[in-house]
Amino acid sequence: MDALIDTSNGISDLSVVNVKELKSHHSYIEESPDDLEQAVSLHFTLPEKVGALAEALNVFQEYGVTLGHIESRISQEGYSSYDFFVTCENSQKGLKEAINALKLKASSLQILTRQPDDGNKTEIPWFPRKIADLDKFANSILTYGAELDADHPGFTDPVYRKRRTEFADIAYNYRHGQPIPRVDYTESETETWRTIFKELTKLYPTHACQQFRHVFPLLMDNCGYREDNIPQLEDVSKFLQDCTGFRLRPVAGLLSSRDFLAGLAFRVFHSTQYIRHPSKPMYTPEPDVCHELLGHVPLFADPEFAQFSQEIGLASLGAPDDYVQKLATCYWFTVEYGLCREGNEIKAFGAGLLSSFGELQYCLTDKPEIRPFDPEKTSKQTYPITSFQPVYYVADSFQDAKQKIKDYASNILRPFTVRYNPYTQTMEMINNKDRLGSLCKTIRYDVSLMEDALQKLNMMVA
Ligand SMILES: [Fe+2]
Repeated sequence: MDALIDTSNGISDLSVVNVKELKSHHSYIEESPDDLEQAVSLHFTLPEKVGALAEALNVFQEYGVTLGHIESRISQEGYSSYDFFVTCENSQKGLKEAINALKLKASSLQILTRQPDDGNKTEIPWFPRKIADLDKFANSILTYGAELDADHPGFTDPVYRKRRTEFADIAYNYRHGQPIPRVDYTESETETWRTIFKELTKLYPTHACQQFRHVFPLLMDNCGYREDNIPQLEDVSKFLQDCTGFRLRPVAGLLSSRDFLAGLAFRVFHSTQYIRHPSKPMYTPEPDVCHELLGHVPLFADPEFAQFSQEIGLASLGAPDDYVQKLATCYWFTVEYGLCREGNEIKAFGAGLLSSFGELQYCLTDKPEIRPFDPEKTSKQTYPITSFQPVYYVADSFQDAKQKIKDYASNILRPFTVRYNPYTQTMEMINNKDRLGSLCKTIRYDVSLMEDALQKLNMMVA
């Protein structure tokens, strides 16, 4: 089981693009050529005619621009035009001129950029400052959800592939603040869910942590968690918001670690909505709605776990790439594959475990190695993504894990502290005296509330 994050850096494929969407919502990080950072991607549409692509490529050649990647497909505007997606290094001379020349030929052209990765450690990587900023990178995905590898169980199934495109399109067009579109799951899809639901719920009483066991019945009561029903992301998201302020956001494909973790900082979890292929209900090579709903969702309703998850996200904002990778590894060994102590026992809380019938049983046997969670060491641990984990890390409690991540984050080289303001849903950078002063005021107010409450409690006791 894999998390919907990719631990590699940089840009990769983005093979399906929606021109209308780009035009109407400016969903990408769109900037003028003067502001371009090191890696740049261009998305443009050309009218269909013989040699159109060659003509476009000639423009790059003419201005000496070398392309690192190119993709094309029939435009969603219709069969009369083609979409092209290319990536190249921005440092090349002539890029600005090539873009201007291309604009004369293309019916639309968008410039898409990613965070710089130029080794300049003094530069703080861009990060979202307000929750709606998540729209800016949500479609900067590394792979589109409809693309399947040749060994994927659904690779040769055209019906399944078409269905995956429908789900990917929903996520692609989603914007913060909108309700998550409801999906009519087919009988076959519900049957797949039923098989998994039945098997996993047999193990939860003995294998899942107490917080998970507490929340699961609430999801059955409030969100339609049943054998014969795949819950809707929108209902689940509303439930989570009521519990901890966490919310779900549909995602069209693989996000970079940096983007995925940034979502957690805002208590936003990027979730898939499609379900695995029916031929192998107990196996999926990627996260699917069963993994999200059964594995992740219950614990995001737990306040301590929600804080722990957000802490990883906050630590990642503006952090150097190597730290982001280390935090992604900590995420892997906790949110995905974490174990925790419960009295004298060890239980599972990681979503990769709680959504896998085989690994949930295996992880609590004496076969794997168990080590105490310690971000300094855990962050350096290598791991397989296609087999059961040989090593698991055990947290004493979510509170303890949160404190450890917080302590670890204090070593991250960045010239500011971030604090999430839930009222404005913005990220505040505490990097000057004024901001520190306003933080003091907030703390002073909270302390006075605490004094007041203590006084009243004492009066009641007396
Ligand atoms: Fe996951």
